[in-house]
Amino acid sequence: MTKLRVHSFSISLDGFGAGPNQDLANPLGVGGLALHQWFFATRTFQKMHGRDGGATGIDDDFAARGFADIGAWILGRNMFGPIRGTWPDDTWKGWWGDNPPYHTPVFILTNHPRPSIAMDGGTVFHFVDGGTNAALTRATEAAMGRDVRLGGGVATIRQYLQAALVDEMHLAISPVLLGSGEHLLGGIDTLKLGYRCTEHVATANATHVVLTRSS
Ligand SMILES: NC(=O)c1ccc[n+]([C@@H]2O[C@H](COP(=O)([O-])OP(=O)(O)OC[C@H]3O[C@@H](n4cnc5c(N)ncnc54)[C@H](OP(=O)(O)O)[C@@H]3O)[C@@H](O)[C@H]2O)c1
Repeated sequence: MTKLRVHSFSISLDGFGAGPNQDLANPLGVGGLALHQWFFATRTFQKMHGRDGGATGIDDDFAARGFADIGAWILGRNMFGPIRGTWPDDTWKGWWGDNPPYHTPVFILTNHPRPSIAMDGGTVFHFVDGGTNAALTRATEAAMGRDVRLGGGVATIRQYLQAALVDEMHLAISPVLLGSGEHLLGGIDTLKLGYRCTEHVATANATHVVLTRSS
């Protein structure tokens, strides 16, 4: 059965998944890039951007797991870009250039739908205004038996968590404090929703934990 999986979602020691005031210069909000330092160093990240090299080992193993057996992605509109409200035009096509690192259909939750965009390398961005269940249904169909990866951002993951729809969530806790921003788990009773910590391992760059929902 298709699972809904979160991978490589980086949070600060104080629980923020993004800094405040996201804009073009700060895709992860102010200070947010520090969350991903463990990930930028990995071979998986370098490969995603067509480069050789990068570190192997535990951080890279976790990063690579996030791309195994994934047939579709779901993102929130703010992870897709910094534009809010009505789209001024169809120019914005994500942060990732002509060949985004998804290579599958990607379903973007929004209240402001626009036509789908086919990118190089097999990524197709679809804009879904029917809510979380509609996006999950479409992504599950598109994944054709493989799993669906929930990329983020924070508001999007929180909705699927609160509905107990996330089957597995890998968090990388980075050794930084953000002080403010978007808190991932605040106010969510993960225990009551059936989540348990099923893996944890610390490296020099991050502490990796996996939360799994019992069925
Ligand atoms: N730490 C990490 O590993 C990581 C990973 C990914 C992203 N991020 C960061 O997280 C931040 C974005 O997170 P976020 O919480 O601001 O936003 P988000 O979850 O990416 O997107 C939220 C927006 O998506 C649309 N949306 C969400 N749920 C919807 C629903 N049920 N129905 C219709 N539309 C819906 C709404 O946009 P509209 O109403 O405007 O259409 C909403 O404002 C960015 O800074 C990003 O870089 C961090």
